[in-house]
Amino acid sequence: MLVTMITMSLATNAKKETWTTIQNGEVWLTAEGDTVQAHAPGFLYEGGRWYMVGEDRSHPWNPDVNLYSSTDLQHWRLERKIIENGVTDRRLGRSRMIERAKLLKNPRTGKYVVWCHWESKNYGASEAACFEAGSVDGQYRLVWSGRPLGIKSRDCNVFVDNDGQAYFISTTEENQHLGLFRLADDYLSATEHTQLFPGQRREAPVIVNVQGRYFMLCSACSGWAPNQCKYATSDNLQQGWTQLQDVGDATCYRTQAAAVLEIRGTKQTTYLYVGDRWMDPTLPETKTIIFPISFDGNTCQMHYRDQFEINFKTGEWRDAKPQQHRRSAR
Ligand code: DGJ
Repeated sequence: MLVTMITMSLATNAKKETWTTIQNGEVWLTAEGDTVQAHAPGFLYEGGRWYMVGEDRSHPWNPDVNLYSSTDLQHWRLERKIIENGVTDRRLGRSRMIERAKLLKNPRTGKYVVWCHWESKNYGASEAACFEAGSVDGQYRLVWSGRPLGIKSRDCNVFVDNDGQAYFISTTEENQHLGLFRLADDYLSATEHTQLFPGQRREAPVIVNVQGRYFMLCSACSGWAPNQCKYATSDNLQQGWTQLQDVGDATCYRTQAAAVLEIRGTKQTTYLYVGDRWMDPTLPETKTIIFPISFDGNTCQMHYRDQFEINFKTGEWRDAKPQQHRRSAR
């Protein structure tokens, strides 16, 4: 009996080291059975773990920000609530709320930095905010809030280039444009602004650098309702972007982009799109959806699957076998 149990556990571990099943369309639960609340998530990979920050929508209209971690993007451990209404800042939960928190680590200062959308109830404030902590799960303090370089700023993301230069990217001036803000060396302030895609009314921006070619994904502005994702590419962040073109289906598989993760394995690199299936059916039950996305030259393709398998060691992905159980073993 004991031998059988040990053999089974070895087999389970061996499986975990090879293929992990990613199942879409369900609320994620922690080992304690609590709903994972980290919507519009931002990610940082460090020490073999993904750290994920995002909106805790259990108070739907005034989200706190939670930090989770995982080794397989399926089993998430709550590290702590890193930004809390009324605690981190008196205005939070009263005159201001947070959306789209994104996490960075600054290699020069060793500090962890969160940038986010910092907003009033009617989205009139159009501000951003920046927080800093000495450890990933530390006490985050508000460093700054306001309109970056005086520019109205809403939906946002961050991007760190291969040379460590970080950028804040946001939807600017009443949702008209996208703004690319170069950040200072300490990542705590914006130093330069470039307007991108003028008048094209895009939000939920995500930038990824694929072998020196930048790809930008973004959605149209339609509240919580999903819409067509589009992408453009350039070999220079500030200029030369191609026209935006459609990718995926008309609703981006009922999601809105939050991040693209790079899984660099021994055999290949796979990119994973992460998006929110908002209001499914309520805001707190919004699902986090993950699927492979590929970049080739100037083109981008989405490979939506309800379920697929990924090998974190080799970087390969494949369709899940039919009748596979929903969750991979821990
Ligand atoms: C879409 C944005 O992407 C979300 O972050 C949020 O601001 C909703 N709109 C609010 O309607």
